[in-house]
Amino acid sequence: CWSRTRKPSRCLSKAAMTSNLNALDPLNATVRARLDQALRDHLPDPAASDAPRLAEAMRYAALAGGKRIRPMLVYAACRLAGGSLEQADVPAVAVELIHAYSLVHDDLPAMDDDDLRRGQPTCHRAFDEATAILAGDTLHTFAFELLSRAGDYPDGARVGMVRALTQAAGGAGMAAGQMQDMAAHGQLQDVAALERMHYLKTGRLITASLTLGYLAAGRPDAELARNLTAYGDAIGLAFQIQDDILDVTMDTEQLGKPSKSDEKHGKSTFPALLGLQASRERAQALCRQARAALAGYGDAAGPLQQLADYIVQRSH
Ligand code: IPE
Ligand code: IPE
Ligand code: MG
Ligand code: MG
Ligand code: MG
Repeated sequence: CWSRTRKPSRCLSKAAMTSNLNALDPLNATVRARLDQALRDHLPDPAASDAPRLAEAMRYAALAGGKRIRPMLVYAACRLAGGSLEQADVPAVAVELIHAYSLVHDDLPAMDDDDLRRGQPTCHRAFDEATAILAGDTLHTFAFELLSRAGDYPDGARVGMVRALTQAAGGAGMAAGQMQDMAAHGQLQDVAALERMHYLKTGRLITASLTLGYLAAGRPDAELARNLTAYGDAIGLAFQIQDDILDVTMDTEQLGKPSKSDEKHGKSTFPALLGLQASRERAQALCRQARAALAGYGDAAGPLQQLADYIVQRSH
C-alpha cells in the first residue's frame, strides 16, 4: 500500500490534506470531484434562500474540504453491490451532510469548544453560535429531505436509507455516543465502555455509509450486507482510535483542527487508557479484521480494502 512506504509530510497544506486520499486510487479523485460537485449543486443557494446567512453557514461547513471518507464508502459499497456511481450520489451527499452537521455541533463551546476545523475557523467562529447551531440543524434535516426526494430509487430503498441514517445519527447512534463522550469527561472508562462509545459516536455512521451504498444499488444480497456491516464496524472503531492517536501525536497545522484537544478536555480515549503502542496495535488488528470480512470478493473489494488501510495509516 502506498502509505506504508510513504512518510507523513511534516506540514500539510489544505490542498495536500485532501489529495493524499486521491493518491490511493485514481478512481478516488474522480469520486471526490463528483461528490464535491453534487454537494455544491444540492446545498441551498444563499441568493435564493429565505435565510441567506444560514445557507452561507451550511455551505461553509460542508464545502470546506475534509477527507470525504464516508461518501467514499458509499460509492465503494454501491459499486461492490453492483450499482453505479450515479446511484450512490444522493446517499453520499446525505451522509456527508450528517457528518458536517455533527462536526459543527461537536465544535461548539458547549461541546468540544474548538476554534479550527478543516484548516479554517469553526462555523461558530466564522459566523456566530446561534447560526452554527441552526446550520447544524439544517444540514441534518436537509440530508433527510434529499434522501426522501432526490435521485431515482424505489420507495423501499428510500425508506431503508432513511432508516439506516436516522438510526446511525440518533439516540442509538451518534447522538448517544456524543452524550457518553460528554458524560465521560475526566474519567477513564474501561475498554468495553470506550469501544461502545466509539461504535455509537463514529462507527454507526461509517457502517451506515456502507449500508446506504448497498441499498442504493438495489440488488439484495444478504451475505454482502452482513459482510459490509462487519467491515464497517471494524473500520468505524479503528477510525476513532486513529483520530484519538492523531490528536496526541500530530500538531494543529497537520491536523487542520486543534491538536491535544482531547487531553485539554479530559476526554476518555484509547491512547489515554491503553497508551499509544497498544492503541496502534488495536487499530491495526481492526484493519485486518475489516479486510478479512471482504476477502471473498477479490479485486471488486479493492477500493474498500484500500480505504481500510488508509483509515489506520492516515496522518490527519
Ligand atoms: C472527524 O471525522 C470526526 C470523527 C468522527 C473522528 P473526519 O476525520 O472524517 O473529518 P473530515 O471530514 O476529514 O474533516
Ligand atoms: C467526534 O469525535 C465524533 C463526532 C460524532 C463528530 P471528536 O470530537 O474526537 O472529533 P474531532 O477530533 O473533533 O474531529
Ligand atoms: Mg467530540
Ligand atoms: Mg471534537
Ligand atoms: Mg478527535
